[in-house]
Amino acid sequence: MKAKIEFDGKFYEFPVTKGSEDEYAIDISSLRAQTDGLITLDRGFKNTGSCESAITFLNGEEGVLRYRGYSIEDLAENASFLEVAYLLIFGELPSKSELDKFYEDIKAESNVDEEMKKILDGFPKSAHPMGVVSSLTNALIAFNPSSVNVDSKEDMYKAIIKLLAKFPVLCAWALRKRTGQPLDYGDDSLGYVENVLKMMFKKANQDYKVDPVIASALNKLLILHADHEQNCSTSTVRIVGSSHAGLFASISAGISALWGPLHGGANQAVIEMLEGIKADGGDTKKYMAKAKDKEDPFRLMGFGHRVYKNFDPRARIIKQSADDVLANLGVEDPVLDIAKGLEKEALEDDYFVKRKLYPNVDFYSGIIYRSLGIPTEMFTVMFALGRLPGWIAQWREMRLGKEPIGRPRQVYTGEKLRSYKDIEKR
Ligand code: SDX
Repeated sequence: MKAKIEFDGKFYEFPVTKGSEDEYAIDISSLRAQTDGLITLDRGFKNTGSCESAITFLNGEEGVLRYRGYSIEDLAENASFLEVAYLLIFGELPSKSELDKFYEDIKAESNVDEEMKKILDGFPKSAHPMGVVSSLTNALIAFNPSSVNVDSKEDMYKAIIKLLAKFPVLCAWALRKRTGQPLDYGDDSLGYVENVLKMMFKKANQDYKVDPVIASALNKLLILHADHEQNCSTSTVRIVGSSHAGLFASISAGISALWGPLHGGANQAVIEMLEGIKADGGDTKKYMAKAKDKEDPFRLMGFGHRVYKNFDPRARIIKQSADDVLANLGVEDPVLDIAKGLEKEALEDDYFVKRKLYPNVDFYSGIIYRSLGIPTEMFTVMFALGRLPGWIAQWREMRLGKEPIGRPRQVYTGEKLRSYKDIEKR
């Protein structure tokens, strides 16, 4: 199949690529060469594919999300987070022996060099955990130099295992820094998710018993956040990785991209917004009006999505899980009612319906994190903890696929050639 473009009275033909889910893309790799310099312009890459990928498929119009062909509903209901991590990275669900070896390899690497604590010490307690975790992830490079610019599958495996093992420790340390708790390594006799909870919440002078309701809820949340094709932070990981900067540096860059309130930082912004509405008397209609007012910078955080023009399937699952977790824990959270009221109003409001703005993954997740005892500033760190295997899978696919360094073009709109002027004449 071909696509034809006419420009300046001439016709140019380009091949059309077809994906396994019948998506079509015009391959414009030869555009500049064929047309002596013509490029495309697509702000925010809303219509531009950056790569071919076999990891995650989503259909925004139908609200479909699959990891390596498995539906998010199927995996959230039946899988462990570590199984999903293995699936995303290596392409298949692991056998029991493969999963056991995977976790044994991870546990063997779950220590972090004590010197790293000196870097953590340098941060004020008030430092945002996303900045701490991004910095510590980069700092890991200095203590694991052999994991930098790796090419072989074996060396990639070692670097991947180190990151999956040490990243949860760094996330727990970022929380314990804020709460003034001594740093902890958890307990290798526990599962991956259970150990995250123990590392985060064990009090120095008490034992910590994992609540199965909390562990199950966190397992599901991490699975739901594990990958999402070429979103802002994943595209960042791929483009930084394309310079061969190495896995840890690429992931650190991805964490920084995720921090933004338009992206992963929205889960923190949603709770802050809901708390603000509650403090303001719970007048959701007032905030709906603000969200629609072009003069007002206020946006309904947790609503809208670049790709989903239908319900975000993850939001559906998380909304149901929020009800279940709060009921199981016997927690009443008034902001859940405000969230449901906002959702109901938005789904009946022409502004939102016309723009196909639905609740996204961030709209309800903070309500669950909060009921699990996770502080608001840590919500996006939890998003990063879930997204880590997806970022790793995408980085690995890009490196194994020997993708070229990412380097977009531009349309220059600045000054034409001009000569230097002495300062006296300016
Ligand atoms: C994530 O890409 C991914 O996959 C990301 C993610 C992942 O798993 O990696 O799914 C995670 O980042 C989810 C999104 C979290 N962000 C938020 O909840 C922040 C609030 N949402 C928006 O800022 C916005 O919807 C975006 C950033 C998510 C999407 O922005 P787009 O695709 O660039 O759309 P846009 O800003 O051009 O909006 C289109 C229209 C505009 O109105 P008009 O100019 O057409 O009149 O919709 C309006 C926008 O003003 N609009 C909103 C709105 N979101 C869009 N109006 C009010 N409230 C909102 N939340």
